[in-house]
Amino acid sequence: MSNIPDSLHPATWLPLLTTRYMGRGDNLVPEEATSTNTLLKEMAIAGAPAGSLCLSETQTAGKGRLGRSWHSPAGQGLWLSVLLRPCIRPEDAPLVTLCAALAMARAVEETTGLDARIKWPNDLVLCGKKLCGILLEIGFAANGIDYIIVGTGLNVGCSAYPTELAHQATSIQDHMAPPPRREILARYLSALEEIITRLEQDGFAALAEEYRTRSCTLGSLVKVSGSVEFTGVAEAIDENGALLVRDEQGNLRRVLAGDVSVRGVMGYV
Ligand code: BTN
Repeated sequence: MSNIPDSLHPATWLPLLTTRYMGRGDNLVPEEATSTNTLLKEMAIAGAPAGSLCLSETQTAGKGRLGRSWHSPAGQGLWLSVLLRPCIRPEDAPLVTLCAALAMARAVEETTGLDARIKWPNDLVLCGKKLCGILLEIGFAANGIDYIIVGTGLNVGCSAYPTELAHQATSIQDHMAPPPRREILARYLSALEEIITRLEQDGFAALAEEYRTRSCTLGSLVKVSGSVEFTGVAEAIDENGALLVRDEQGNLRRVLAGDVSVRGVMGYV
């Protein structure tokens, strides 16, 4: 970590906020959490307002995608969850994960100058290795979305990830002296607020061009796994955030969900 004091106490980052509501709700910032997603989900169910967040130095039961655990050592990352209650159709809820990746890519670029790319749909990668993972947890009400918890695990210090994952994970400190985490947090909240407002007002089409520009998936050989499995070349990302892959038979196939490995990224050769 940098030798600048790097406190996550709200008193250090509230003055940096330029947001209307992100980070200005009920903020929970314990030294240690089981999982910031789990704690914030409880707050969401109890009625916390949109923009509330949970942030901790370390997690004892950090959750990753597909039921995996997420390594979250003290002081090494931005282990953060933000509560959203967006006015979008329930079927569009997964688009929030693309929006969060876009917001974090902007925040990393603005605070470090590093060109983190988005591996569709939502991993951030730097020089072919994973820098940040995103986990969405969605609660539905009878009339639509009740809450969305957007959990982000950004590797800041070089001990953020286990050494056995060094071939596929990276951190900001692997590339430069990291900025204080509060600066990344403030930029992320500001970007997320702007991007979610755009999504609510104009749909993903208004964000698609920037998303494509920051993609490391487009033009690459990919392997799609899940309910269907095939390999092909990622040709496009459409206005609804779907990945269009040209398979080996020459058919253009639309991928909406599933795991996508990208050649040359995170250990896929
Ligand atoms: C992934 O598997 O790529 C998603 C990882 C998400 C990790 C973050 S850390 C903060 C938040 N709390 C959790 O328990 N998980 C997310």
